Amino acid sequence: MSESLLNVSNISISFTQYVQGLNQRNLKVISDLSIDISKGEIVAVLGSSGSGKSLLAHGVLGILPRNANLEGKMKYKGKILNKELKEKLRGDEITLIPQSVNFLDPLMKVADQSIGQYKDNEDKKIKKQKQRKVFEKYGLGEEVDNMYPFQLSGGMARRVLVSTALLSNPELVIADEPTPGLDEKAVQETLDYLKEMADDGVGILLITHDISAALKIADKIAVFYAGYVIEIANVSDFTGRGEKLNHPYTRALYRALPENEFKLTEGHQPLQGDEIECCPYVKRCEYSIEKCHKSIPELKDFNDRKVRCFKCEELDGD
Ligand SMILES: Nc1ncnc2c1ncn2[C@@H]1O[C@H](COP(=O)(O)OP(=O)(O)OP(=O)(O)O)[C@@H](O)[C@H]1O
Ligand code: SF4
Ligand SMILES: [Mg+2]
Repeated sequence: MSESLLNVSNISISFTQYVQGLNQRNLKVISDLSIDISKGEIVAVLGSSGSGKSLLAHGVLGILPRNANLEGKMKYKGKILNKELKEKLRGDEITLIPQSVNFLDPLMKVADQSIGQYKDNEDKKIKKQKQRKVFEKYGLGEEVDNMYPFQLSGGMARRVLVSTALLSNPELVIADEPTPGLDEKAVQETLDYLKEMADDGVGILLITHDISAALKIADKIAVFYAGYVIEIANVSDFTGRGEKLNHPYTRALYRALPENEFKLTEGHQPLQGDEIECCPYVKRCEYSIEKCHKSIPELKDFNDRKVRCFKCEELDGD
């Protein structure tokens, strides 16, 4: 078994909000989330917009907004990933390929921002050489070094972000929606870069709402629904009519792909702020049983996968 890098156990992220004067309320965005990533493994987190994917990334990196509350446990290489360790590893062993190219400083030349801080001239020289080598690898010629972000095409900006993440020799890369806005060729290119990194032993957390992109390179897919991980499936399970997928929502997502049945499920996810006291999928589920309406299922092992569903628990007991 390959070496474990990141273990996230039962984390929840909520926001304290002020409503009507000094009254506070707690808005839960992520509930009871558990996920593991090993060396060389690509785990995709798949969820719709606003489902808390970036918050998960920011929680691992320790860059959540000040009004966010994070509960639960995270470990990195077996050590508790606390605030101090997050600060130490961030931008070094653990790097982020951010969701938006707006993370690039518009007023700074791209090579300078990729290199970042240096101790002295010697350190600067070494980092500059490394930056050039990595840029070259990603098809960014010397002329790019002195460009400002507004002079880059979308694909070039994306490659600058990937290169910047790689410059620190990361062991874990969190790629937050690395493909939107790119043409088909640039999407494939970006996915290939991530795959290459994983082949070199880097663990990748790929955050996306694009199931097709996730299926192209991931080993495992964790599906988010209403702030819960409802299934962690192997990529090889996404085949045929989805018979190997266990949760009804994962199957519905897969069948909704244009290359499959293009069949959309009626209804919508619970809204943020809705109190969830039963299975979050119950209103859309054709298999619901009595207890689905009474409590929230846990994420449990089933058929060597993980799934949050009472029906699967029953089948497991048969
Ligand atoms: N500072 C904040 N205060 C209150 N709520 C917040 C704050 N930041 C984020 N949220 C809430 O958390 C939710 C999840 O945000 P997040 O950015 O993680 O979603 P996402 O899954 O990354 O969406 P997308 O696919 O659009 O990037 C948002 O819908 C928002 O309501
Ligand atoms: S727990 Fe019940 S309602 Fe929820 S997905 Fe499973 S069968 Fe459907
Ligand atoms: Mg996001």
